[in-house]
Amino acid sequence: MAERPPAREPARGAAHGRLPGGGPDRGVHLPRAARTARLTRAGPVETGVETARTERASRGTPERPTGLSLFMTTIGIIGAGHIGGTLARLAVAAGYEVVVSNSRGPETLVDLVAELGDSARAGTALEAATAGDVAIVTIPLRNYRDVPVEPLAGKVVIDTNNYYPQRDGQIPELDSEITTSAELLQAHLPTSKVVKAFNHITSADLGSHGTPPGTAGRRALAIAGDDAEAKQQVRGFIDTLGYDVDDAGPLAEGWRIQPNTPGYGPRLDTAGLASALAGATRVSTPA
Ligand SMILES: NC(=O)c1ccc[n+]([C@@H]2O[C@H](COP(=O)([O-])OP(=O)(O)OC[C@H]3O[C@@H](n4cnc5c(N)ncnc54)[C@H](OP(=O)(O)O)[C@@H]3O)[C@@H](O)[C@H]2O)c1
Repeated sequence: MAERPPAREPARGAAHGRLPGGGPDRGVHLPRAARTARLTRAGPVETGVETARTERASRGTPERPTGLSLFMTTIGIIGAGHIGGTLARLAVAAGYEVVVSNSRGPETLVDLVAELGDSARAGTALEAATAGDVAIVTIPLRNYRDVPVEPLAGKVVIDTNNYYPQRDGQIPELDSEITTSAELLQAHLPTSKVVKAFNHITSADLGSHGTPPGTAGRRALAIAGDDAEAKQQVRGFIDTLGYDVDDAGPLAEGWRIQPNTPGYGPRLDTAGLASALAGATRVSTPA
């Protein structure tokens, strides 16, 4: 099922194309900064990323901004559709390396990687999870058990997923609201630090609503998670992509920003989003 509001979503066939408005590098003006992060790397994926980084530095292209996101260098993206593709574009524009993946294989992501440039490569989901200092899981929720567990151990994992029974099938734990979609992913990834984010903004808006820090009325995005340090890192990452952040609390509070809540969809600043989160009510999904 299309995300709400569906009329504003690009057609499925446009998933790997440019977004309306020309893509993520419009409207997002981010500072240059010296790289000071200390990195630990190993293996062929990282070697390729390191080469790209060296080449990029020699070209004078933007370095990753300073801030808490210094801990985050390579973003492993599992799912390269509307949201995954948009986040890849934003992350590259902000100075990150990305490894994108999907279910069909890296050979199907040639066009996206060509568009993203030297800061991007395609891999399998396993390779993206392994390469990522931080991972983003952005796939239909019904497939969350496919997400590789071991390579994500101990890592921050950003979860954009929503539950749409029409697309995902009925998930009884969510229908009865004894848990939340992000808690399901957390249970699947027991030693990862799952942070729910980017789930309540359409891919088109995500690609075009970003603004520099301090902009009046800057759009805010909600996060939820159980690990305070992980949430701080994700907060910094989101800021570099052009958005303020409002913390909804632990993962168990993630329902406050699930589909059919007041904060799901509209463009709100931090105060507006906080009000929407506070005003959310939990309504069971009809079976
Ligand atoms: N669309 C939005 O505006 C929006 C907004 C906020 C949140 N979300 C949520 O974010 C998630 C992604 O949404 P989307 O609209 O980006 O979906 P999408 O356009 O349908 O893309 C889904 C991506 O996930 C990949 N994928 C599917 N199963 C996979 C698996 N087992 N392993 C690895 N990759 C897999 C797909 O690869 P293949 O194409 O190769 O199958 C595709 O690249 C969903 O949970 C959605 O509810 C969407």
